[in-house]
Amino acid sequence: MTQNRRWLLASHPQGDVAAEHFRIDTESLPDLDEGQFRVAVDYLAFDPAMRGWITGRDTYVSGIQVGDVMRGMAVGVVEASRNPAVAEGTRVVGMFGWQEYVIASSMRDFNMRPVPDGVPPTMPLSLLGITGLTAYFGLLDVGQPKEGNTILVSGAAGATGSVAAQIAKHVKGASKVVGVAGGPEKCAWLTDVARLDAAIDYKAHDARGLYREVARHFPQGIDVFFDNVGGGILDAALANIKVGARIVLCGAISRYNAVNPPPGPVNYTNLILKRGRMEGFIVMDYAARFKDASMELIQWAQAGHIAYQEDVQEGFEHAPDVFLRLFSGANRGKQLLKY
Ligand SMILES: NC(=O)c1ccc[n+]([C@@H]2O[C@H](COP(=O)([O-])OP(=O)(O)OC[C@H]3O[C@@H](n4cnc5c(N)ncnc54)[C@H](OP(=O)(O)O)[C@@H]3O)[C@@H](O)[C@H]2O)c1
Repeated sequence: MTQNRRWLLASHPQGDVAAEHFRIDTESLPDLDEGQFRVAVDYLAFDPAMRGWITGRDTYVSGIQVGDVMRGMAVGVVEASRNPAVAEGTRVVGMFGWQEYVIASSMRDFNMRPVPDGVPPTMPLSLLGITGLTAYFGLLDVGQPKEGNTILVSGAAGATGSVAAQIAKHVKGASKVVGVAGGPEKCAWLTDVARLDAAIDYKAHDARGLYREVARHFPQGIDVFFDNVGGGILDAALANIKVGARIVLCGAISRYNAVNPPPGPVNYTNLILKRGRMEGFIVMDYAARFKDASMELIQWAQAGHIAYQEDVQEGFEHAPDVFLRLFSGANRGKQLLKY
């Protein structure tokens, strides 16, 4: 019998999420029936959206309830199969959750798909995962960047922001791309490795300083703002938009742990004066185009247009602490866990 360790939701957080909101549990998996196969999971991906999934409320997906296995995308290998259509050794990606093994009867279970030959095992969770695809559709479909545009990206050193910023700069011919991130090390990565035009360290500025920094970098204004953070940086960006600007509402991580979210931006009325457009999106709406987008993302990475970072921590027992790294900013690029 296979022992399966899994992380369950222990309680719904109010305010800051912490390790004690999760509890580890071990179950014995039954032997495989005819037609079934077992996947041994080896890498798990973390997303800030998980904070929204554990509030107890349904959002764009159903909420996770206390006692449920935590939801999450992961990759693994088919280690045993009694299904003639699924060979042992097949590498797969799917919504396996925070657990070590899953038993499936079909490749349709857990939204599973095989990892194509030649693709590194973690890439389906990072560049080709939800965050890379979010960057692709958020920037290209919602932001609609044009050659010569000026573009600001918040959360720019993260998994989503870094890909969006580099597509803008190195693929779509933006004239200026500036990234906002926390701390000098992340800002240096943005200018030296991602080769953006400039970076703003939001931790080094108060609200007024942030306005001034954004205005200094964009004397003619911003065409596209790709926002992962919300709050003060959204306000500073809104104060500096050009006529016809597009604001991509990708995420608002500065609010996810807030019990009493701060009041909204005061500068949103600039959208009226500048005939700007601010638009939210959920990456799953583009599922039918994921395959084509993945091909393009691989080509851009191979051509050297996109540098992507994976932050691989180790040890299944550390899953909650690894998740928390997204909110402290400790992660360097896509946060993954190797079992
Ligand atoms: N719309 C969609 O379909 C969709 C899909 C996927 C992700 N998203 C959104 O995309 C955003 C980025 O997600 P990701 O997976 O790529 O994570 P990530 O950017 O790799 O990691 C999260 C980063 O957020 C920053 N951060 C955390 N707390 C913050 C705060 N209070 N204020 C400012 N920055 C803070 C930290 O960077 P610093 O060190 O720079 O602070 C941290 O490294 C999230 O808002 C997420 O919800 C949206």
